[in-house]
Amino acid sequence: MPNPTPSTLHQQLRLATKEPHHALDHHPLMARLLAPDISRREYGDALVAMHGVVASAEAALLAYLSHHPALFDYAPRRKLAALEADLSALGRHPAGEAVALPAIACHGALFGTLYTLEGATLGGQFIAARLRQQGAGDFPLQFYTVYGDQTRSRWLAFLERAEQRCPPAEYARATATAVALFDAIRGHLDTCYGPSSCAAAATTGASSVK
Ligand code: HEM
Repeated sequence: MPNPTPSTLHQQLRLATKEPHHALDHHPLMARLLAPDISRREYGDALVAMHGVVASAEAALLAYLSHHPALFDYAPRRKLAALEADLSALGRHPAGEAVALPAIACHGALFGTLYTLEGATLGGQFIAARLRQQGAGDFPLQFYTVYGDQTRSRWLAFLERAEQRCPPAEYARATATAVALFDAIRGHLDTCYGPSSCAAAATTGASSVK
């Protein structure tokens, strides 16, 4: 009988986060990114919501890695500046509140968090391609194209490093953290969705958005 638990860290992470990813990409804020009639305002709303996530996750990653610098070099992979450049081009501001995300207190949690952020660059390429196809290629796309044509190679390099550096005894922590992170992001998107949301509060003025 085949073993139901896949062996590699990547297979385990991918399997565990399949449903949470589905829930996330079907969230109303995210699903609009693929809609043919997406407005600049809606595009900005999704970026404002993601800003809180990326800012909080990158701060936690860098804090853990400052104690374990040999584990992974995240600095050249930071995405916050690209996201902020897009917000600025849209005349939008970050909501500025820290988002409660799963703590990074072990190597497993580190790689579960990295998996989620690095994997999102794959989805970003997909989103950017769709926006261009739909005639929204003039939207600022730095965040969703952050690695450009290196997206696939950087993803593979991340996976290789994760398999090398995450001890198998920590795989369960890695998958639990990734699932908890997806769930936390969805919870944050919920708070950002609606008229009294963080995204609405972070709009600078109706004239700057469609
Ligand atoms: C509208 C929103 C989203 C869409 C349409 C989307 C789409 C995709 C697609 C098409 C892939 C597979 C790419 C490939 O294999 O080449 C992917 C992978 C992935 N995405 Fe998303 N994504 C979205 C949002 C997110 C978010 C917000 C996160 C987390 C912050 C995320 C995390 C991931 C991860 C971790 C993978 C890697 C899965 C694997 O192990 O192969 N995605 N996404």
